[in-house]
Amino acid sequence: MTPQVHISTHPLVQHKMTLLRDQRTDPKKFRELLREIAVLIAYEATADLAVEEMTVMTPLGQAAGRRLQERVGLVPILRAGLGMVEGIWNMMPNAEVWHIGILRDERTLEPVEYYSRLPVSPTVDVCLMLDPMLATGGSAVAAVDTLKRWGAGRIKFVGVIAATEGVQRLTRAHPDVPLYLAAVDRRLNETGLIVPGLGDAGDRLFGTG
Ligand code: PRP
Repeated sequence: MTPQVHISTHPLVQHKMTLLRDQRTDPKKFRELLREIAVLIAYEATADLAVEEMTVMTPLGQAAGRRLQERVGLVPILRAGLGMVEGIWNMMPNAEVWHIGILRDERTLEPVEYYSRLPVSPTVDVCLMLDPMLATGGSAVAAVDTLKRWGAGRIKFVGVIAATEGVQRLTRAHPDVPLYLAAVDRRLNETGLIVPGLGDAGDRLFGTG
């Protein structure tokens, strides 16, 4: 793994990941865990956001403070990325949320973009692309292509679980996009699922499949 790839070593993330992977975890609990893990990964992914100095009056006097200088956009990749929005948004309520819909063709595993709801030009400084699964990497590469065509400056991929293949494809295609993940598993099976992984995140999240 290159310095471009950040895999969380936080005990809370590892604990929650184990529960997320567990086949006995029902959709309600799965949604809860995904929301919590997303917050923890986003916490790590936002550690280098620029801040500016300011002062604030406390009840006892003036204190030095800082405020975020950069405007953040959350870009969930439909569907499964939706499960990562709420928790992160609660932590950064001023973030804008822009949706991109991409699904994988079940036969070729190639990405098909079916929805994109971006403003005419970028209104944010940093885009956090949200998708819990990075399998072949095709969807993430296509989403970053779309964001770059749109004119996005800084893009970070905030994911949960990845296969080595996906990490390689995304880092090669977009060496300027750092990846923040909770786990990287060893392989993909013939249907493009991460093994051992956690199954299909979209299906487990929405109770489909
Ligand atoms: C899953 C997942 C990613 C993509 C990863 O979405 O949420 O977006 O596959 O695969 P890739 O790295 O091989 O492109 P899916 O196509 O199942 O759509 P869904 O989220 O609507 O279920």
